[in-house]
Amino acid sequence: MTLPRLAEMRETGEPIVMVTAYDHPSAQIAEEAGVDLVLVGDSAAMAVLGHDSTVPVGLDEMVMLTAAVKRGSKNPLLVADLPFGSYERSNEQAVESAQILVKEGGCDAVKLEGGGSSVDRARAILRSGIPTMGHIGLTPQTATAIGGYKAQGRTARRAAEVAEDALALQAVGCFSIVFEAIPAEVTAALMEQMEIPIIGIGAGPASDGQVLVFHDLLGIYSGHTPRFVRRYAELHTEMVRGVAAYTSEVRERRFPAPEHTYSIDPDELAEFQRYLNQETLAGTSAWDW
Ligand code: KIV
Repeated sequence: MTLPRLAEMRETGEPIVMVTAYDHPSAQIAEEAGVDLVLVGDSAAMAVLGHDSTVPVGLDEMVMLTAAVKRGSKNPLLVADLPFGSYERSNEQAVESAQILVKEGGCDAVKLEGGGSSVDRARAILRSGIPTMGHIGLTPQTATAIGGYKAQGRTARRAAEVAEDALALQAVGCFSIVFEAIPAEVTAALMEQMEIPIIGIGAGPASDGQVLVFHDLLGIYSGHTPRFVRRYAELHTEMVRGVAAYTSEVRERRFPAPEHTYSIDPDELAEFQRYLNQETLAGTSAWDW
């Protein structure tokens, strides 16, 4: 996947598929499933690191996760999130963090959240030569400031703010924008103004593509999931079932079975028994014996 191909998909109306991944196996699964973009989202904080928001994950952790995903992902365009605190302070900080994600994590592009000062950060990162994706609407890194994990743009005034952010990010050269938790009608109306691929999550069907969190769509994450998630599998239940079956078999001495064990030549075993049966075994080196 390349940026020109992504733009072409938008032009021709081919739906674009993005999914998150946070490690090597999930990257391989996304690759095999044929998705177009893989996002190492800061949702990793909740999906794999056990935090209750995306805020605590650090740049060093995002680099480690991105590098693991990179090793399992060849064809999809790889985008990594700039985590909270890694780009807000200044354009210099934003460029430095983006460069670390690209150099050490191996991603093709970075994503940052918000309009306002984030537009300036996006412009600076783009000028440094790094493709940049925007993210507007519900921006989890600033959930407290925007009134919680709620849909955005539900009044004409708030929808106009969403539009302003989208157009500003497009104007500075973002190659794509994520629209999160925006009324479907607002997205549809805005799509007429958008010239770059828009990837929606809880933003209705009018966007050019969709993104979901890997652990949500596969039912691995057992906590609360937003209304925009559709579960395509129930892997948490299936994984608990597997580990519980293993637990029972070990406790009932039904695992390991003969096919899981290694053998030794009977003569070698007899000799080993003689070694163990020596009276002066303690302190005897196997090599002396
Ligand atoms: O971190 C993430 O998973 C995201 C997606 C929800 C777009 O930003």
